[in-house]
Amino acid sequence: MTQDELKRAVAEAAVSHIKGMLNNDTIVGVGTGSTTNLFIDALARIKHIFDGAVASSVATAERLKAHNIPVYELTSVDKITVYVDGADESNANLQLIKGGGGALTREKIIAAVAEQFVCIVDDSKLVDILGQFPLPVEVIPMARSHVARELVKLGGAPEYRHDFVTDNGNIILDVYNLDIQQPIALESRINDIVGVVCNGLFAARPADVLLVGSDTGVQQINNPRNP
Ligand code: A5P
Repeated sequence: MTQDELKRAVAEAAVSHIKGMLNNDTIVGVGTGSTTNLFIDALARIKHIFDGAVASSVATAERLKAHNIPVYELTSVDKITVYVDGADESNANLQLIKGGGGALTREKIIAAVAEQFVCIVDDSKLVDILGQFPLPVEVIPMARSHVARELVKLGGAPEYRHDFVTDNGNIILDVYNLDIQQPIALESRINDIVGVVCNGLFAARPADVLLVGSDTGVQQINNPRNP
């Protein structure tokens, strides 16, 4: 199967996985990226069985609206029953690197609110140790050089993402060469740098369920740390 076919298979599996959680009042959190786009297309087929969605990016909101799925602001909903999103890497504890598409901050906010976080990936995203994919860090523009120097002190090699502005009006530094043995500690350490808005480590709040598409089918992995 091609990578696109694998992404489509996990997108369909995600719809099957969440179907039983949905009713007329349910709000679904929706992530950003090529895998999530396929999920949105599949979700549109069952739009009559849930209330609407909260989007993690302008692009996702536009795709949802194009399917006539109602889009709510996070501030106007009481709860998000389930959040579905892709990732750039996942380890065995379902800790993730996200933000390849630059939507990491809104993604992390929705993940924090959601009762269940379902992550959908093809098997190329599975790693033993996070950090082969450069870690995206969203930064207030005036703090760019300061944050870059601090990231170098942590052993990283930050690169400015040219010609890119986040939906929040900020810039992204993609940090190479990080050997992320302690994801929770590093997530917190990077967040402590003045000028950092958010980083793409989803370790303190990992996924609850990982759906992995491979040539042998879609495998469901539940977070080993969940009761
Ligand atoms: C968006 O900012 C990211 O977090 C995406 O979820 C991640 O980059 C995965 O994207 P793809 O599904 O396009 O690989």
